[in-house]
Amino acid sequence: MLDLVLSDVTLPDGRTADISIRDGRVVHAGSSLSSREAIRCSGLLCLPGAVDMHVHMRGGTQRRKEDWRSGSEAAIAGGVTLVVDQPNTVPPLTTQDAFTARVADARARSRCHFAINAGVAPGSNPAVLWRSGAMAFGELFAAPSSYGEGIPLPDLAKHLEEISALGALATIHAEQVTGEPPVDLGAHDRSRPAEGEMEAIRAVRNAAGAGGHLHFCHLTSVEALAVATPVSCEVTPHHLFLSRDDFPVRDGFARVNPPLRSRVVQQRLLRAWEQIPVIASDHAPHTLKEKQTPFPDAPSGVPGVETMMPLLVARVRAGEFTALSVAEKTSWNPSEVLGIPRAGPAPGERADLALYPLRPEPIRAGDLHSRCGWTPFEGREAIFPELVLLDGDVAFRRGEFTDAPARWFPGRGYIPRGSM
Ligand code: DOR
Ligand code: ZN
Repeated sequence: MLDLVLSDVTLPDGRTADISIRDGRVVHAGSSLSSREAIRCSGLLCLPGAVDMHVHMRGGTQRRKEDWRSGSEAAIAGGVTLVVDQPNTVPPLTTQDAFTARVADARARSRCHFAINAGVAPGSNPAVLWRSGAMAFGELFAAPSSYGEGIPLPDLAKHLEEISALGALATIHAEQVTGEPPVDLGAHDRSRPAEGEMEAIRAVRNAAGAGGHLHFCHLTSVEALAVATPVSCEVTPHHLFLSRDDFPVRDGFARVNPPLRSRVVQQRLLRAWEQIPVIASDHAPHTLKEKQTPFPDAPSGVPGVETMMPLLVARVRAGEFTALSVAEKTSWNPSEVLGIPRAGPAPGERADLALYPLRPEPIRAGDLHSRCGWTPFEGREAIFPELVLLDGDVAFRRGEFTDAPARWFPGRGYIPRGSM
């Protein structure tokens, strides 16, 4: 007996089918089989639950910005079923105790599946963090950013060697900072220029040598994509869809590292859609109060885990992107980079699925679930999922969350405590 059938869904390749699910996996996609429960999904586009490789879930002393409950609700309501949390927490996630406590916090509060990256620091022990279940290392900061010290290149090279010896993935925030004070969006862009991003990518690739397993975070230009290739890399929805020309020049809400570029640079990146391997949100919530401070004092970072898929699906419905390309960049490619089994509507795949209706609606901060209470995408067209499954269980339906169990995805180096 099957657990659930989703009937008459539109698959990413455009065909319609009934999707049969048992024990958290898709067992059949075709004509209907009999099951305990069936949900009619006519007209709904079925995409694999997104694997967002770059999410800052905050929590602890930063819980006013976000915590695992609010952030994971934002994820699920946006069609993201697995988040990879970043280690620039306060304090940073560089010890085994801090790592284990973070896993426990997420286990208790997260509504979506989660993986947790570990950080590095002078004297930290990557091998211990790897065995504790770190999914990857980083983002490692090649330049300073919010809650992240820049790591000098010789030190970074040493860390990369240790990480590579473990067979682990290192994810890199590649930037260079010039002396220009970031007094407004233009100056902020010039103070962390696109050329510096490319230089940093080159330097890190050289330092890592041939053996390292790297992933470059949040690239902002076509040129940076070309310099990073064939190394894995990601682009965020804010660098893809927003430019600094879309905001008042001293708007601290649009301050983010790396900076939003000019409309020309942004539009060229958007036209390079086919060349982008991974889309990840870099969800980095700060409170309204923090962002309202004068530009030079506003912290860098924008929220985005809930709006990533809805913005992309709206483009699919408008005929600009194919549904398959969105599935690849938001779920299948990140799963491959991380080495986890993929989600999707084909037999054998994890039954983490999101079903999207036809009609777009404007994004309104008041409808979103992040505790930060604002979005840089206010008013943009989006299509939010109506139904989200986690391991074949309904986790979210028409605005309501259930208590569907969410899991921890430890990295490949994980050795459960007791067997260490
Ligand atoms: O703008 C940013 N905010 N860039 C980062 O790299 C970190 C992030 C944060 O954690 O706020
Ligand atoms: Zn970053």
